[in-house]
Amino acid sequence: MTAPTRILVIGSGGREHALAWRLAMDAGVERVTVAPGNPGMTDVAAIHPDLDVRDHGTIFGLAASQAIDLVVVGPEAPLVAGLADDLRAADVPVFGPGRAGARLEGSKTFCRDMAAAAGVPIADGRSFSDDPSGAAAFARTLGAPVVIKADGLAGGKGVTVCGTLAEAEAAISECAVRFGAAGRTIVVERALAGREVSVIAITDGTTVLALPAARDHKRIGDGDTGPNTGGMGACSPLDDVPDVAAADLADRSHRPILAELARRGIDYRGVLYAGLMLTDDGPVLLECNVRFGDPETQVLLPRLGAPLARLLAAAADGRLAEAAAAAGLVAGRIPGGDAAVGVVIATAGYPDAPRLGDAIAVDPLPDDALLFWSGVRHGADGRLVTSGGRVATVVGRGVTTESAADAAYAAAASVRFDGRRYRRDIARPATVAVGAR
Ligand code: AMP
Ligand code: GLY
Repeated sequence: MTAPTRILVIGSGGREHALAWRLAMDAGVERVTVAPGNPGMTDVAAIHPDLDVRDHGTIFGLAASQAIDLVVVGPEAPLVAGLADDLRAADVPVFGPGRAGARLEGSKTFCRDMAAAAGVPIADGRSFSDDPSGAAAFARTLGAPVVIKADGLAGGKGVTVCGTLAEAEAAISECAVRFGAAGRTIVVERALAGREVSVIAITDGTTVLALPAARDHKRIGDGDTGPNTGGMGACSPLDDVPDVAAADLADRSHRPILAELARRGIDYRGVLYAGLMLTDDGPVLLECNVRFGDPETQVLLPRLGAPLARLLAAAADGRLAEAAAAAGLVAGRIPGGDAAVGVVIATAGYPDAPRLGDAIAVDPLPDDALLFWSGVRHGADGRLVTSGGRVATVVGRGVTTESAADAAYAAAASVRFDGRRYRRDIARPATVAVGAR
């Protein structure tokens, strides 16, 4: 199976920078373009900063003018909006599910329905549409702690783990106000306790290849305190979920859900990401995402030995089994190499009110570190300036998690701007997230 030669990645964050970096490395890949991209990634890819991802016509135009033979869609919103359907209808090969499959992330109710139909364990819970008092009454029957979720896309901010019923009532009444249409349907779920794990798999709907398990650190503060963010750091491998275990977790969650989608006539090609809670009673599905995780991707892709571009192209083409066999991959998984730890550098005020516009200085990085940019733009003097709450992910690599974390922290000091903040405890054993406290 031949590799794609010209790849277009849609998106602009650290995940897309890592994808572009990894794809550009594969044999046969001549050019990677990221649209809109960000000016921190021009070392590995051409960018199109003015592209509006909602404008599918412009994306076709770009794909045609550059003879793109694979589009990889990074974020969820374009998938939920049907970009992959439109590209496929125009015969452009695309890695990413269509609108129907992307509902797994676009509606938490749909995700719960699919998991329940597939027999995948989920937390006790129910959905309420335009019915905050019904949601509050149900929360009282579950008792605190309880989790309140906006059904639709909310940029990673739609979930509140509530320690008391009063907090739950406040979260319910705020949901529609804060999240608009995405919060009109509210999911009320029993809070689960355990360690969380992200299991990301590449699939063509039939064949499933699990990447090594990774762990995101979602809270803003050290010791897993403060509000949830888009992710403040990640690590892989995990001492409690060895790389070989990812395929087993995918057998229990990804495969049954994909089978259920197929039963409903939904052709799913792309990433299926399961956020799982490892409870005393076994793994329980917290959420499905339909794209690579951010910042998990920044630590997973440096670990992968496999020819990623070929695998993504094969998944897009419905021929993943063939490509996996050609790459010598066995047992439904992609093995990982040395450890990687990612530390997200954020701005002052993130996540509620990020301070933007600060000039960034960067020292040369040590060899055991990588830097993936996200919320940056060019300032007037050509230097990078902060333009989003999460500015960059610094990734350290090492034979052990400890040495990878040391490498990440040594490199984090190299990215400097006023108000810079980052967690000091990523991949340090005492900080593994334990839910529902
Ligand atoms: P989600 O977007 O559904 O993954 O939720 C974001 C985060 O909220 C998860 O990564 C968990 O930390 C937390 N969460 C979601 N559902 C639950 C639950 N039922 N029990 C405990 N924590 C949860
Ligand atoms: N790291 C969590 C996510 O990508 O949704």
